[in-house]
Amino acid sequence: MIVLGIESSCDETAAAVVEDGHIVHSNVVASQDELHIEYGGVVPEIASRAHVERMLPVVEQAIQQANISPSDLDGIAVGNRPGLIGALLVGVTAAKSIAWSLDVPFVAVDHVLAHLYAPNLGDAHIEYPALGLVVSGGHTSILNLSSPIEATCVCKTVDDAAGEAFDKAASILELGWPGGPLIEEAAQGGNDVHKLPRPKKKNEETFYYSFSGLKTALLYGVKGIPKRIDGVLTYERQANDLTAQEQSDWAASFQTAAVESILMGVEIAFEQGNYKSLVAGGGVTANKVLRQALQVFANENDTPLHIPKFDYCVDNGAMIAGLGTAFLRQNLTNTLATTASPKGIAS
Ligand code: KG4
Ligand code: ZN
Repeated sequence: MIVLGIESSCDETAAAVVEDGHIVHSNVVASQDELHIEYGGVVPEIASRAHVERMLPVVEQAIQQANISPSDLDGIAVGNRPGLIGALLVGVTAAKSIAWSLDVPFVAVDHVLAHLYAPNLGDAHIEYPALGLVVSGGHTSILNLSSPIEATCVCKTVDDAAGEAFDKAASILELGWPGGPLIEEAAQGGNDVHKLPRPKKKNEETFYYSFSGLKTALLYGVKGIPKRIDGVLTYERQANDLTAQEQSDWAASFQTAAVESILMGVEIAFEQGNYKSLVAGGGVTANKVLRQALQVFANENDTPLHIPKFDYCVDNGAMIAGLGTAFLRQNLTNTLATTASPKGIAS
């Protein structure tokens, strides 16, 4: 079964061709970083307009690189939730139009669930039930997966997502955007000297992710407590007053606290279920320190860890095509009346 997957939930216009849910024939991602960089974050209206311009060239490229013709496609999958509504609508409209014109089945999938499908791209064999961790720019959630297509949300963030916290931390340290890879790079020569706060368990059973306290602790640590001087909020210092070593130490302290916080939720959720494997996905799983920490946890618990290859951690069309294939195999399709939704399984 050859499926085209389309992704446009945020600032990546992506399309991929995947065979049998595992073999990736093409994976084209047009990043919009250059359009949003001056704002230090994604501007929804700019993202939607860029998706409109880039969608068809990206789809054409995905079909060409896969060396197939459109008539070889057995189905079209799209991520229709959650995400920026205007951005999602571009992908959904494109996918429905292509499915209708080729007269092939159309399936709309949850983006967060697709991140947890991403480790299947290749030759992984995942045993279910699995504990799924999604850490991305928009989500930090733990899901109980009874199969690749069935899941319930166990725990999620009450404020920022992990990737969003990395992005804000990089902004506080004036490293640039998107922040995750820049924090990881800056942390390399640094040490966890500042011992920034980790979220507390509500009780032994209940845990919610929270990253806003960590972000504020970093802000006040780096710049000092702000005072209002002549009506203007003024910090004691600026990030560019830091030496390179101080900057690295703050980045390392943030990264250590963020990774330990992520692990804390995994540990609590894992103890409460009867899981055969641990699955992780989303942009933050590109972080090598997090990958290592998850591997140590999995080894200690004698459980296989399935984590995507680097290309499939961040948003991509292959994970959408793969998950779409899993639905199509069960004859679970959507009608062309399906639309986009800002909310999904973990929102
Ligand atoms: O999954 P993704 O591409 O988009 C969403 O679904 O949100 O995730 C993007 C997020 C960004 O916040 C980015 O800073 C973060 O993933 N990220 C990382 C790394 N690479 C990307 N965070 C930490 N370390 C990284 N190496
Ligand atoms: Zn994502």
